Amino acid sequence: MWQKEASSLSDRVVLAYSGGLDTSVGIGWLKDATGKEVIALAVDVGQGGEDMDDIRQRALDCGAVEAVVVDAKDEFANDFVMPALKANALYQKRYPLVSALSRPVIAKHLARVALELGADTVSHGCTGKGNDQVRFEAAVAALAPSLTSIAPIRDLALTRDKAIIYAEEHGLPIKQSKKNPYSIDKNVWGRTVETGALEDPWNAPGDDVWEYTDDPAKGLPAEDVTITFERGIPVAIDGKAVTPLEAIQVLNTRAGAHGVGRVDIIEDRLVGIKSREVYEVPAAQTLINAHEELENLVLERDLGRYKRKVEADWANLIYDGLWYSDLKRSMDAFMDHTQEHVSGDIRVRLQSGVAMVTGRKSTESLYDFDLATYDTGDTFDQSHAKGFIELWSLPSKISAKRNQGK
Ligand code: ARG
Repeated sequence: MWQKEASSLSDRVVLAYSGGLDTSVGIGWLKDATGKEVIALAVDVGQGGEDMDDIRQRALDCGAVEAVVVDAKDEFANDFVMPALKANALYQKRYPLVSALSRPVIAKHLARVALELGADTVSHGCTGKGNDQVRFEAAVAALAPSLTSIAPIRDLALTRDKAIIYAEEHGLPIKQSKKNPYSIDKNVWGRTVETGALEDPWNAPGDDVWEYTDDPAKGLPAEDVTITFERGIPVAIDGKAVTPLEAIQVLNTRAGAHGVGRVDIIEDRLVGIKSREVYEVPAAQTLINAHEELENLVLERDLGRYKRKVEADWANLIYDGLWYSDLKRSMDAFMDHTQEHVSGDIRVRLQSGVAMVTGRKSTESLYDFDLATYDTGDTFDQSHAKGFIELWSLPSKISAKRNQGK
């Protein structure tokens, strides 16, 4: 939490700016509605697309008094995605929290810039129906409790039609390219697609949905990739040293070419709605498969079993917007501790939409060939098994006898 107080009587608001229609119009709307000067903040979390300098200039052209651009790609990969990888975080067992991880890093910079530039309010372009509004505002509340949040689309009822009219009337420099049929969010950890034809849960995703992945049915020849982990973090790919950001970028390209990481689910939102969501997460799926399998090799059994349960709680907590919470901090201490021995190599075969682990090795391995083998050299004393089972099943036996008597 930042101690510095937002200046009272501040006449400035910092808006999380994407460069799109809604937040561009939001600049003028916020100014009209609050009388405050608007500072635009664009955060690069690896969403690709437009040049950040163009986005910055557009914010100024739309009436922002200042426009700040932050390259947060490495920060996002190191401080937000890597904790998620350590936790093998998948909401509803499938969604690697793409948007849920980026909102806390954007909110962190929103709060920082607001306090540095003397604003008392922060703003974002979310609607009132989704999770992202909760994530932004809960994060800001935890980091800088003196700040207020305002969301023009939600709080000032800024609809798309109104935005287009406003942009035309005010001559805002926004090319209204033909409206994308989907609502999309992107960063280096993946891409999310909602609405349009996908709102009918029976409609299969059309070819126009995909961007990070090629058609898995294209049937490229299988490709092997070896990922080296150190304490749960990917540090090399096929022997070449990489940063976390580079590991994700390389695997998005390589696994994406095989159609790895397409997800299509009905999801339970925090606000109570069930929604149809399509995701493309080639690197996330490959890395989580690999990391989880390395843990299977090196984690003591009870730790492994327990961790899998806590992983689900971690994913729910982050999905629900509580990145900057006490529980999250304590859980991360646990997760970090579990990674002490999670070092080694995992070979993954990429083929037809699947990232399957086909090999693992580690100096920290708990796999003992002599205990596992059925061939000569077996050191497992089978004579101990009989007595073990006798005692292991004793409670069931006693209770079964009692139950039979009734
Ligand atoms: N349903 C996903 C989530 O809540 C994706 C949200 C995408 N956000 C967006 N503004 N389009 O994390």
